[in-house]
Amino acid sequence: MADRRRVRIAAQYNAEDPFEIWHPDLADELNTEDSFRKVAAVYREGLFDFYFQAETAALPMGEKGVPEFRVMGRLDNLVTQSYLASLYPDLGFVATINTGNNLPYDLARRLHTFDILTNGRSGWNVVLGGNPHAHVNHRPKAVREKDVDRYVLGLDIVHYVLQALGGEGVGPQHGFAHYDQPERLLPPNRQGAPFTIQAGDSGHSRDLATSYADGMYTHYSDEVNGPAFYKDIHDRLKHHGRQPDTFKIYSRLAILVGNSAEDALERHKSLLRYQLHDRQVRSYAEQIWGKRFAELDPEGPLPEESPTEGHVVKLGLSYGLYLDGPADKAVARLRRISAERGGAPLRETLIFAAGTHYIMGSPVEVATELRRLVDLRATDGFVIAPHSAPHWLEPFVRLVVPVLQDWGVYAKAYHDETLRERVLREC
Ligand SMILES: Cc1cc2nc3c(=O)[nH]c(=O)nc-3n(C[C@H](O)[C@H](O)[C@H](O)COP(=O)(O)O)c2cc1C
Repeated sequence: MADRRRVRIAAQYNAEDPFEIWHPDLADELNTEDSFRKVAAVYREGLFDFYFQAETAALPMGEKGVPEFRVMGRLDNLVTQSYLASLYPDLGFVATINTGNNLPYDLARRLHTFDILTNGRSGWNVVLGGNPHAHVNHRPKAVREKDVDRYVLGLDIVHYVLQALGGEGVGPQHGFAHYDQPERLLPPNRQGAPFTIQAGDSGHSRDLATSYADGMYTHYSDEVNGPAFYKDIHDRLKHHGRQPDTFKIYSRLAILVGNSAEDALERHKSLLRYQLHDRQVRSYAEQIWGKRFAELDPEGPLPEESPTEGHVVKLGLSYGLYLDGPADKAVARLRRISAERGGAPLRETLIFAAGTHYIMGSPVEVATELRRLVDLRATDGFVIAPHSAPHWLEPFVRLVVPVLQDWGVYAKAYHDETLRERVLREC
């Protein structure tokens, strides 16, 4: 069927709260060789397009230092994924790597090695930074995050790396602000430049990504925000003189597969307190309302009082995606989400208020929803953020993937191809 669109699936590990939890009955130790290896085995079994790893340039800092309740300490992507590629050679790998925290020649050399070790199935998720603490870990003293234009610097690094690796569509016409024009420094490899996607949201970021990348990584995939983002990106691609079909959008997604809709709901309820524990609920509520609460029951209703007048919420990605801005709007949004879910308590409301779209249900319900969103052109594919490792996505792989395969919208085997070719492959 000509109008059948492929459902693209990739998955992440490690993700972030509230969509990554550590519960002794559900997960092995986080950040052990064992957990990464088992996760990759599940992704390989599911014929996922790629194994995606996020990056933390600096530990998250609160007012009182590093909060002890966050999932943190992500491993180095290229080291971890190069090892996994030796175990699962036909899986694809996408590593998130910040632009301005790296020297471009060194980065080009590491990505070149990565592409060889993955047999051409490597990808770079380009992030431009913005974490005000990251420069301490990554840059000489003088180069603080707030002193650089991360878009100008980011585009310089991207052009340098892609030109050094022989990428198409990036050319000597780019005027470098921070570096000299690179030479073609490295021998050609199977894929040429790595497959690139860029994570970002602002107009600046979208414009940059559509000028050079193979795709974008976004939070949007719901039926309202997804199609708007999709159209905006396709318009920008046309503006850059590019063919939109050669560019793919992957959306971050949380998923819960149960034997039935009721079973999924029951499992969802049992997970809630591991997704956001009491101190996190309090911390988010206080940041949103702009006040301290003497009493706060995470299982109770939303605080009745109004937020502090003039307070502006600044939670940042991904929590702040729909909450950052005037506090009265954020609180109104929380009240709406709670009401739509029959008066959901504070903790559950906060989970659904996060930027990540959350799908739950029976295997057929989940498959139907994924296909519907792809057909709606809310996205081209999904990067699933699993709740726990390594077993979380087994029901997805064993029960949802076969449904998608029966419908002819999902691969039945891996082909010997580069990651770029895999991502562009249709049904
Ligand atoms: C879906 C998504 C995932 C992201 N993941 C990361 C990440 O793993 N590490 C990181 O440093 N930044 C991450 N970012 C933040 C980007 O680095 C940031 O959005 C980028 O600097 C562009 O900023 P802008 O969109 O506000 O212009 C992510 C952004 C999005 C939208």
